[in-house]
Amino acid sequence: MEDSGKLRVGLTYNLKKHENLSNEDDEAEYDDMDTVNAIKNALEKAGCEVCLMEATSRIVNIIQEKDVDIVFNFAEGLKGRGRESQIPALLNMLCIPFTGSDETTLAVALDKALAKRVVASENIRTPKFQVFFSGKDKLNRKLKFPLIVKPNAEGSSKGIIDTSVANNEDELYRLVARIIDNYDQPAIVEEFIEGREFTVGMLGNGDDVEILPVMEITFDHTRGTGFYSYNVKKNSEKLTSYTCPAHLTAKEEKMIRNFAFRIFDILECKDVARIDLRLSRMDGKPYFLEINPLPGLIDGYSDLTIIAKSAGMEYKDLIKRILNEALKRYRMQTI
Ligand SMILES: Nc1ncnc2c1ncn2[C@@H]1O[C@H](COP(=O)(O)OP(=O)(O)OP(=O)(O)O)[C@@H](O)[C@H]1O
Ligand SMILES: [Mg+2]
Repeated sequence: MEDSGKLRVGLTYNLKKHENLSNEDDEAEYDDMDTVNAIKNALEKAGCEVCLMEATSRIVNIIQEKDVDIVFNFAEGLKGRGRESQIPALLNMLCIPFTGSDETTLAVALDKALAKRVVASENIRTPKFQVFFSGKDKLNRKLKFPLIVKPNAEGSSKGIIDTSVANNEDELYRLVARIIDNYDQPAIVEEFIEGREFTVGMLGNGDDVEILPVMEITFDHTRGTGFYSYNVKKNSEKLTSYTCPAHLTAKEEKMIRNFAFRIFDILECKDVARIDLRLSRMDGKPYFLEINPLPGLIDGYSDLTIIAKSAGMEYKDLIKRILNEALKRYRMQTI
C-alpha cells in the first residue's frame, strides 16, 4: 500500500483501435474504453486507487514505474496463441500479484485443441476433433458430419460464421481454407453436438470454488443459426435468449455443476472462469466446448455479468469479488 492507504491496483487491458482491419472480427477480442472505465469505476468504488495500464509492448516499463500492489488483469495480449499469457508471465517475472489464472492455464485454455486433450485425459467428454494445419490435411474418417470449423485459438466467436457447420467434405475444406487463410492459425474441426447449450460461471479457488447459476442460451432457429456464430453473438438481443438459472432437472444440474467444477480444477484455473458446454440430444451427457479463464466483462452483455446479476451480484460486486479472490490467494488483505 502507498501513503493514501488505498490498495494500488493496476488495470491491464487491450483496446480496439478500429483501424487497418482485414476481417470484420479482427478486434473482437479487444475492448472499448467504456468497459475499461466500468472496471476502473467498480475498483474505485471498492476503495482502490487504479492505474490504467494499456497492454502494448511499452507495458514492461509502465508496470515497473507504477509500483502497484496487484494487477487486475483483463489484457488479451498482442499476438499468437499464447497472447493471453503475455501479461501474467511478465507479472510473475516481476513478482507482482495479479487476478485470474496464470500464464500456463491461459495458454492451454486459449488453444482449444490442447485444452480438449488435457480435459479428455481426465475423462471429460468433449466433441471428437481434428486440427487442420493445412488445407491439404486428410479428414480423419472417425469424425462424423456435421462438423463445425473454428479458428483453434480465438474467442468471442471470432472466425465462426453462420455457415461454419459443414455437412460434407467440399464444405469442410472450404471452411478450413477460410480459417487458415484469414486467421493465421490452424482450424479445429469438431463434431457438431446437437443439443441445449449452457455456460457456467465460476468464482473462487480450490475447494471453495463457487459455481454460479447455470445459464442456458437458446437460439432463434428461424432467424439465426442454431449456434453462437459471431453474427449471432453480435445480435444476441435479437437472436438469442438467456435463461438463468436454466431449467434443469436436479440430476442434470448436478451433472453440469460437477462437470464445470472438474474442468476448472483440471486446468488449474484461478479466481474466475466461464465454461461453455452442450448437453447432447443423443446421450443426454455434457460435452465440453471450451473454457474462458479470461471472460468478457461488458456490463449487461458478457455472459458472466448476466449470470452474476441473476445470482444477485451487481457488476461492481463481481469485479470486487474477482479482486478479493486473488487477494485471498496471495494472502493479502481483502477489500
Ligand atoms: N462442437 C460444437 N458443437 C456444437 N456447437 C458448437 C461446437 N463448437 C462450437 N459451437 C458453437 O459455436 C459457439 C462458439 O464456439 P466457442 O465457444 O468454441 O467459441 P469462442 O469464440 O471461444 O467463444 P467465446 O466467445 O465464449 O470465447 C458455441 O457457443 C456454440 O454455439
Ligand atoms: Mg465460447
